[in-house]
This record gives sequence, structure tokens and C-alpha cells, in this order.
Amino acid sequence: MDINTDRIVGDLQRALLTALGGGVVLTDQGEISRYCRDWHGDVTSGAVAVLRPRSTEAVSAAVRVCSQLGIAIVPQGGNTGLVLGGIPDQPENQVVLSLERMTSLRKIDADDFSAVVEAGCILSELKDRVAEQGMFFPLALGAQGSCRIGGNVSTNAGGINVLRYGMTRELVLGVEVVLPDGTIYDGLSTLRKDNRGIDLKQLFIGAEGTLGIITAVSLKLMPHPDQISTALLGVNSLDDVIALYRRARRDCCDLMSAFEFMPPLAFTLAREAMPDLPLPLSTNYPAYVLMEISGSGLVDVADLMERFLENVMTDGLVLDGVIAASQAQARNLWLVREGMNEGQAKRGAHMRTDISVPLSRLADFVRDAEAAVTRALPDCVSVSYGHVGDGNVHLNVLPPTGLAKVERDEAIYRAKVVVNEVVDIYKGSISAEHGIGRLKRSDFEERLAAPQRTLLTAVKNAIDPAGIMNPGCQLKFEGLS
Ligand code: FAD
Ligand code: LAC
Ligand code: ZN
Repeated sequence: MDINTDRIVGDLQRALLTALGGGVVLTDQGEISRYCRDWHGDVTSGAVAVLRPRSTEAVSAAVRVCSQLGIAIVPQGGNTGLVLGGIPDQPENQVVLSLERMTSLRKIDADDFSAVVEAGCILSELKDRVAEQGMFFPLALGAQGSCRIGGNVSTNAGGINVLRYGMTRELVLGVEVVLPDGTIYDGLSTLRKDNRGIDLKQLFIGAEGTLGIITAVSLKLMPHPDQISTALLGVNSLDDVIALYRRARRDCCDLMSAFEFMPPLAFTLAREAMPDLPLPLSTNYPAYVLMEISGSGLVDVADLMERFLENVMTDGLVLDGVIAASQAQARNLWLVREGMNEGQAKRGAHMRTDISVPLSRLADFVRDAEAAVTRALPDCVSVSYGHVGDGNVHLNVLPPTGLAKVERDEAIYRAKVVVNEVVDIYKGSISAEHGIGRLKRSDFEERLAAPQRTLLTAVKNAIDPAGIMNPGCQLKFEGLS
């Protein structure tokens, strides 16, 4: 920053401290740095300040002050987002507003199967708290020990249980939002059915903080599945993975709660992150499925899994498999899937995608996209895995180690262009679950039809005419961006 920018930032910091106090405003660059870099450590930014209000009223006061001072706001939950939506891109004119101090579980209602919780509650803590009352909140993802429910709602997160329970959007009953002028919109209904006009909460779900700050949410709960059976299966091909999924949907009478696909490289990557991780199956099969069946009450989940596997192994659809005999063994199976992400991160900057195509086209898509990557970038390695039951694949591309940064960045860019071309041919989505953020904005904008752009611009202008909410995220608007 030059001297003039330094002076302006200093003035803004003093104004924020005067208006909101040192208990809310952090300005020390050392303290704020953790809010300003992404999970992989690929991008480091900065901010005028980090604001950490403790209540909805305090969020409202902070928003009013920022609006008066002309400072843009980047809301942040657990900062596990993978598309740079939660960290500033104009550090001299943006604050991070962290919800990390708003963590209360306001209400759990076991009769209504609902909960009302503040936006900063960590997802795994929410799941644990409702489990204490025999209830279940089904959203589940690798980052659940760090991500916060406001961030999950703002990204409409997916994860491993979507095939049974739906995306976050389907789990939200209501939202409380601080609007860009500081108004508090209380939409925290827990009604299941309510058709009184346009459903306003939908505007904020998946908006990635561009329309307001979610301060609390009301959520659907389910009965806790006290029987869970987890199996890791070796399969002959991705085509067989899809065939197995279809079979499991029918044979497991909708009790299947996860069906993840992994390549053999998953074990190598997971071991690179967790060298002591036990490997429960030969790592030489062409494809792997991590499958979970769960239920509560009178069903016999273990028997269902055993009978299902016996049948599909007899039919040759599954070559080998292991059913977890304890919760600890099930956890180890899931660690292979979770360790893949950490193993990839350890190999340095790489190209990550979050694609969906119709399930019936998924195997062809992966074959075509991986072949296109190999033709364009023969030294790079493609890793395809993910929530195959939802038609959602993370097709990532790892450049060889030892490349200079400029060559690595060039490979990442080319890989993205090549894969996105194949996504377009298959009429798929470039963002199945992670959102657009800042990372995918240009790819998103290039693919927008005119009426879609007009509608999105009209919504943004109606709710945030000054453009103070997360400018640069999702779309480039007029205003502060
Ligand atoms: P942040 O990263 O803090 O923010 C994400 C976006 O939401 C930003 O645009 C931010 O401005 C906005 N935002 C945050 N809180 C609020 C709020 N209260 N009001 C308004 N806007 C807000 N995602 C999946 O969908 N499925 C997965 O399986 C999955 N697995 C992951 C595994 C790992 C190891 C990691 C690191 C990430 C994974 N993610 C996954 C991505 C990430 O965890 C999700 O996007 C998550 O929902 C982000 O929550 P967060 O609290 O960290 O949000
Ligand atoms: C996962 C993240 C990358 O599924 O979405 O592991
Ligand atoms: Zn995912």
C-alpha cells in the first residue's frame, strides 16, 4: 500500500474503532491475517479490519457504520469456502465481518423436529448438540469441524448426505438477516408449510453474502439414525459404480445415506496426509465406493447391508468389500475420503472443480474430461472423486511437483479451460456445491444468459443498491465493486 492508501486505511480504522469499539474491531495485521487467507493457502489477502460482533443488533450497528463510511463488507463463517467468497479482494476498502462469536443454539424443539441456531455455530457442534436430544441434522462434509452454519446456508453446501436429505437449502426453514442498510429481517419461522407469497429466505440461501448477513437460521431436524452401516467396495469401473448406485437405490429402499466414488489414487493421497492410516482393502481395484446405509427404529440396517453386498458380489458388480465392524473402523474408512483432500493440498496449488452432470452421463463425462486433460497437459494427474449419487464429481488436476509458480499457474489455468469445455458439451454445472465466490466469477459470467443476468442484477440493485455486500463475489456489479 502507498502512503496515501495507508493514511485512508488508518482513518477508516480509527472511525470503526470509535464507532464500534475495540471489543468488536480487530485491526492488528498479525491478528487479522488468519481471516484473510484461504483454506489451501493459495491466496493471501488483507482487510481494513475484522469485525466480530456478538449479537444480531451488533451486526446491524456494524453494517450501518460501514455503510456510512463507504466500506464494503465480506461476511465470514469458518473460512473453509473453496472459491474465495469469504476473503477480501480489495483490502484497502473491505472489512471481514466474522460471525464466529455468534454461536448460540437458541432453541431445539424435539416435537417440531426443528432448531433455531445462530450463524456462527460450528456445524459439528450443532450436530452434536441436537444428537444429545436424539435428533439429527444431516448436513455432513469434510470441513464440518470448522465451517459454520451461516456459511453452509450462504453457500448452499452439499456434502455426503445430499442423495438422501438434499442440499442445505432443503434443510432450512427460515433465516434472520441483517440487510445492507442495517435493517433486521426476522424470517425465523419453523413452519413446514407456508405459501404466503414469494419465499424470501431463498434469496439469501446460496447468495454467498452478497445480499445481507445471515445472523441465525431455523432448520429441519430428523430422527437420529442410531444404526449405521458403512462399507468400502472395490469395483471394476466407473460404469459399474453407477450401475451399483442404481441397484443400491432400489434394493436399500431409500435408506442409503452416502455413496461416494474414489479412484485408487485416493489411498496414496490419504496416506501422504496421514501416514498411519490403515488400508482395509487391496488398493488395486480400478474404482472404489464408500457407501453408507442408515436408519432408526425397527429396520435392521446391518442385515440390509450384508444381504445387499452378498447379492451384488454374486452378480460380479462388486469385486471385493469390507463392512466396518465398529464406529472406529467406519471412521477410518471415511478418513480415506477426507484424507484425499489433505493429500492434494500437500502436493501444492492445483486445479479443483466442483462439477455436476446428469448421473446417466457421469462416467462418459469423467472419461472425456480426463482424456482431454491428458492430451493438453500430459505431465499432470487427474483425480476424479466425489458425491457420485448426486452426479457431482470433483475432477481435480495436479501439476507435477517441482514446477515453478508461473508454470504451475499456467497449467492450472489451462486445465480449468479444458475441463470447462467438456462441462459445457455435457450441459453440466461448473458449481455443483461450492458456489461461485471470486474464483469462478468470470467462468460464471461467461455462461450467463441475458435474462438470468438481468434478474440477478435487479435483485442485487433492489436489496443492496450501494453494493456494500461482498462486492466482487458472484458477479461484478456497479456500486463499491
Ligand atoms: P466461509 O468460507 O466463511 O464463507 C463462504 C461464503 O459464505 C463466503 O462468500 C462468505 O462471504 C459467505 N458467508 C459466510 N457466512 C455468512 C453469513 N453468516 N451471512 C452471509 N454470508 C456468509 N462444501 C460442500 O458443499 N461439500 C463438501 O463436501 C465440502 N467439503 C469440504 C471439505 C474440505 C476439507 C473443505 C476445506 C471444504 C469443503 N467444502 C465443502 C467447502 C466449505 O466447507 C463449504 O462451502 C462451507 O459451506 C463453507 O462454510 P464456512 O462457514 O466455512 O463459510
Ligand atoms: C469434497 C469437497 C471438496 O467433497 O467438496 O471433498
Ligand atoms: Zn464435495
